[in-house]
Amino acid sequence: MKRLILASMAAVACIALASCGSNGGKAPAEATNKATITIHPDKAVNVIPDELYGQFAEHLGSGIYGGIWVGKNSSIPNTDGYRNDVLEALRELKVPVIRWPGGCFADYYHWEDGIGDNRPTMVNSSWGGTVENNSFGTHEFLNLCEMLGCEPYISGNVGSGSVQELANWVLYMTADGGKWADLRAKNGRKEPWKVKYLGVGNESWGCGGQMTPEYYAGEYRRYAEYCRDYGGNHLFKIASGASDYDYNWTEVLMSGIGQQMDGVGVHYYSTDFSWPNHGSATDFDEDFYYWTVGKSMGIEPVIQKHIAIMDKYDPENHIKLLIDEWGTWWDVEPGTNPGHLFQQNTMRDAVVAATTFDIFHKYTERINMTNIAQMVNVLQAMLLTQDDKMVKTPTYFVYKMYNTHRQNKYVPAEVKSDLLKAADGKLAEVHAISSTTSISDAGKLSISVTNVNLDNDVDVTVNLGASGKAFTAEILNSPDIKDYNSFDNPEKVGTAAFSSFSVDGSTLTFRIPAHSIVTFVEK
Ligand code: AHR
Repeated sequence: MKRLILASMAAVACIALASCGSNGGKAPAEATNKATITIHPDKAVNVIPDELYGQFAEHLGSGIYGGIWVGKNSSIPNTDGYRNDVLEALRELKVPVIRWPGGCFADYYHWEDGIGDNRPTMVNSSWGGTVENNSFGTHEFLNLCEMLGCEPYISGNVGSGSVQELANWVLYMTADGGKWADLRAKNGRKEPWKVKYLGVGNESWGCGGQMTPEYYAGEYRRYAEYCRDYGGNHLFKIASGASDYDYNWTEVLMSGIGQQMDGVGVHYYSTDFSWPNHGSATDFDEDFYYWTVGKSMGIEPVIQKHIAIMDKYDPENHIKLLIDEWGTWWDVEPGTNPGHLFQQNTMRDAVVAATTFDIFHKYTERINMTNIAQMVNVLQAMLLTQDDKMVKTPTYFVYKMYNTHRQNKYVPAEVKSDLLKAADGKLAEVHAISSTTSISDAGKLSISVTNVNLDNDVDVTVNLGASGKAFTAEILNSPDIKDYNSFDNPEKVGTAAFSSFSVDGSTLTFRIPAHSIVTFVEK
């Protein structure tokens, strides 16, 4: 990689509760490769919810079959059909919620095909025309959630289904009595499941039915009315939200549905869908790297604009915003089915994940869940599998490191670092350092810092505001931004203990290597 042209960029300060203002690309005195972070634990605000670290698993390529589910008779070691290596990795990750069965697939899925002993096959016309045998259905998904101790987020079929079909599904999963509960018991599950999150359609403006927002708002009201609470179950109902910049969609839903929804989603991918190709996951140049980070950070103004609309109609903040699909979207790996969205995952993806979380954390007053696309083998996955092999991706390690922030309060901070790339249209400005600080109920800090620079290390000073603090730390890095874990070299990228830091009074100092992520946890 070429050295970055820092000389033409200025160092600016960003206040972490507000968006960073552009300096218009004015020339700085010189590049400093220094950064300061001043944290304000006394101003700690909202709790970072577990569900911010949510996952998404769709019937798409090997997102389910082969990736999670291999069936009981598989030679791949499994527990009741779920592959053991994947189960163990997901348990380590403490997955809080999984969205299923889609995605686009959800609006084409008829849940009754996925229960009982005789399950018809279908063609997955959303993704590659693959024949779907329905061996992974409602029981298999909800049992997986129980095994992982996570909340299910069911995406209902509005595009090609009916109100009755979705209402029956809710009965089948959650009712104590009646014919659907009897059928559930006959299929091996007497006790109802708890289902917290229910999505009413997916991308209803596109693959979920090509609806206008006005039409969808009417459909939503009808569907939501008949998806009711049974026993002790309480559904949190989520409207199919906008595609990134479609603010009108949110406006129409907020005015037309209002309090009949508990949440509304937005989908945002770090790619450009107007390009014929999305670019290689593993072979990219410096320009494309910074383009990607600028695009992923471009989610912040999008979040702000959707929230501003929600604030207008719901000033008391009852309706939550979900980013229920996000992440990178690259060309599929050579030789794989173009409809299966199987992509590799490098340190670039790790930088995208960490810096995106740094943005999400600021908005948890309104955002209560995000779901990266997707959990296994699809797009920006946590895990990749091939036959009996599995690798953890760099993105997996970001999730694991960032888990320390869950249930902590978000701590505002001022971050001063070099501006690496000015804002450009939909691309946000890119600074050298991105970070999150949070504080636990016990008053212990967690601090994550990402050095976005491709080539330059940065000397970071953190003003902690109090002395007497001691930390343990972990680093995720690899010599080349393009490094990834392959099935032949599964441990090339991973985390390691980080000890080259010092605490002097109320100041934490360290040098963070280029394209690295470090998390400090107070002892
Ligand atoms: O995540 C892949 C696809 O992207 C989903 O199925 C769809 O909702 C979105 O367009």
